[in-house]
Amino acid sequence: MAWSLFVGNMKPEKRIAYALVVLVSIFSASCQHEPITVTDIIHIDTTGNGGGGCNIPGGLYASLITDSSATLNWAVVSGAASYDVQYKIAGSATWTAATSTANSLPLTGLNAMTNYEFQVQTVCAEGSSGFSASANFITLAAGDTTPYIPCNPDTAYFQNDVLPIFLTNCAMPGQGCHDAGSHAEGLILDSYDNIMASGKVKPGKPNSSKIYEVITTGEPDDRMPPSPYSPLTADEINLIYTWILQGALNNYCGGGPCDTLSTTFSGTVFPIIQANCIGCHSGNVISGGVDLSDYSKVYTQVVNGKLYGSVNQVPGYVAMPLGTTLSDCDIRKINFWINDGAPNN
Ligand code: HEC
Repeated sequence: MAWSLFVGNMKPEKRIAYALVVLVSIFSASCQHEPITVTDIIHIDTTGNGGGGCNIPGGLYASLITDSSATLNWAVVSGAASYDVQYKIAGSATWTAATSTANSLPLTGLNAMTNYEFQVQTVCAEGSSGFSASANFITLAAGDTTPYIPCNPDTAYFQNDVLPIFLTNCAMPGQGCHDAGSHAEGLILDSYDNIMASGKVKPGKPNSSKIYEVITTGEPDDRMPPSPYSPLTADEINLIYTWILQGALNNYCGGGPCDTLSTTFSGTVFPIIQANCIGCHSGNVISGGVDLSDYSKVYTQVVNGKLYGSVNQVPGYVAMPLGTTLSDCDIRKINFWINDGAPNN
């Protein structure tokens, strides 16, 4: 338990580093046919020492990837004075060399949509390790500047994991719960700022967070969401627990492929409607009395809760687009925009 709390409080990069140390320790110990005890593992973890010598770095990965930049990361090697890094366009002959005293290195001036490869070696007082095997990353398409952050399976991300739970179970528009239009008990749970401003989340302390208490309580009268809404699933509860434990950050992963963070009506939402809905909801065909041909008409369907209800296929609404479903990413973009107050931007 202490170990999982220790790991849970670390930054993802650090946790990868420590996990690697554990794995390397287990691996080398088993090669020498020595029994592995829990004490050995805990001893090694808490000091962060991977053993003597000048070891080759492992755990290479790139983060914060844009169309022209990226940050290279690797696991800390104990005894390292600095690290030598070399990178190149995959398949080209010449490496570009760089050094770093930290276990990361930001790169700029990269080409868009290009496969890069990099290697790292440790520099110790007594000499250098060899270079590691290569790790690769591909920069984003030109103009796609939302940093791409690889998803770490051990991290709970607010934007990807937690906010959708709140939007679907607590801040559903038009249901009289915790959206901007209702705020039962003064609580609005539709965005990071509002959720944190509620004071019901104590970063790092799920067990003293009111939000966690009400989703896990055994008291039917106190449970959230209240009956007749379904309780959260064990997975959803676990994600919220982990997210609070890891500091309740406004974090996300991915980013390039589904950029909800820069959603606008004219640039994002209306193009989705034009591509998927307009044929049945404008001009001579106003299905169900719903006209979606301009901002003010779309806004009418936001305020009455029908746009949210239909595209999220909430029971009680007719699921839209008729006979199919929008992509996950398009639904997330529409939800972000609605929860942002559906601005005409
Ligand atoms: C193939 C035609 C078609 C397409 C495409 C379509 N709709 Fe509809 N829509 C309908 C029909 C027909 C109704 C009326 C259904 C009913 O009342 O039974 C309807 C009803 C609705 C309603 C009212 C729902 C309710 O529960 O009252 C909304 C809101 C709506 N559509 C939004 C959309 C949106 C948003 C899209 C695109 C993402 C879309 N529709 C795509 C045919 C379509």
